[in-house]
Amino acid sequence: MSTTYFQQYFSEPLVDLACEAPRYASVYSPQPEVGLPRFGVSAEFLEKSESYFQKYQQYDYIFGLIERELKAFGISPQGTAIDFGCGFGNTVIPILEHFPSLRMICVDISPDLLTILNREAEKRQLKERCLAVAMDAQRDYFGESFADIVFGGAVLHHMVKPEKVIETTLKVLKPGGHAVFLEPFENGHAILRLAYEEILEKARLQKVAGPAFEFLRGLVLDIAVRTKRAQYPGFEKKWETLDDKWMFTKTYFEKIARNAGAKGVQFRPLHETAECFTKQTTMALSQYGGFKCPDALPNWAWEIIGRYDHFFSEEMKQDLLIEGSIVFTK
Ligand SMILES: C[S@@+](CC[C@H](N)C(=O)[O-])C[C@H]1O[C@@H](n2cnc3c(N)ncnc32)[C@H](O)[C@@H]1O
Repeated sequence: MSTTYFQQYFSEPLVDLACEAPRYASVYSPQPEVGLPRFGVSAEFLEKSESYFQKYQQYDYIFGLIERELKAFGISPQGTAIDFGCGFGNTVIPILEHFPSLRMICVDISPDLLTILNREAEKRQLKERCLAVAMDAQRDYFGESFADIVFGGAVLHHMVKPEKVIETTLKVLKPGGHAVFLEPFENGHAILRLAYEEILEKARLQKVAGPAFEFLRGLVLDIAVRTKRAQYPGFEKKWETLDDKWMFTKTYFEKIARNAGAKGVQFRPLHETAECFTKQTTMALSQYGGFKCPDALPNWAWEIIGRYDHFFSEEMKQDLLIEGSIVFTK
């Protein structure tokens, strides 16, 4: 499949980014994107992309999450797909491997990550079926109603205006087509914030401190900023250098889906609801903070988190999404 083939889906000519730097050869951009500053994305996704790849390459795990959604909707992808914010290909690589008649337009703002995607696709003889496109996904250079399916793994919360990506998604999808996004939600994170604030208050009263408590303080701040961003003066400017910007609510997506004329939108938690607050805290402490769990926190702190695990019914915890899938149907 050549660039000439994929060009039919774009409203602007595609240009090989070798013109910007030889290392970006075979990464393409719609012409108006060439030379534009890359706002809203940090060095981790650009010049530090190789270490990001080494740390977060999780093809099997991410595919498991996507596969569950595809099965729930009875979808076996074929034809043409777009993956927004594909990065080095955590979603793209296993999807192409599992669905041999699928072709994918792989969009990311980072030509560095897309160069890694091309390399990994080439190794697995998948490159023929994908096109790496460097552009800001908040801008729309696409035709209408040509995509059979759209994917976006952990990408919308990095956008200043995620609604733009969803509007484009609902434009490019064929009628009846689906879009699968995986994102963090305010619902469950608000509960985590309450639990962490309770732990930090008890630690203050008991005069205990340590790096894991500081890490929880950082999480509290992160959740607070991402849920109440509008009350921070100049927040739009700060977003230019902040990677994680949003925690979503169902209402946010339902409103956009309605305005864009989608047939429907459905939500499901990405992970099992049993002990979900303990599991999410363990994941954050170990994967993002590099702490050993459960040793990082005293027993009384885990007991506080466990109380929140048992306070809600399993059904309620389905609604209290911490990380969830959002599936739009056009
Ligand atoms: C957390 S990573 C997820 C990557 C991949 N989907 C995965 O599941 O591993 C977020 C991705 O969004 C990309 N991104 C951030 N802002 C973007 C924008 N405005 N347009 C397109 N991609 C963007 C980043 O470069 C990064 O690759």
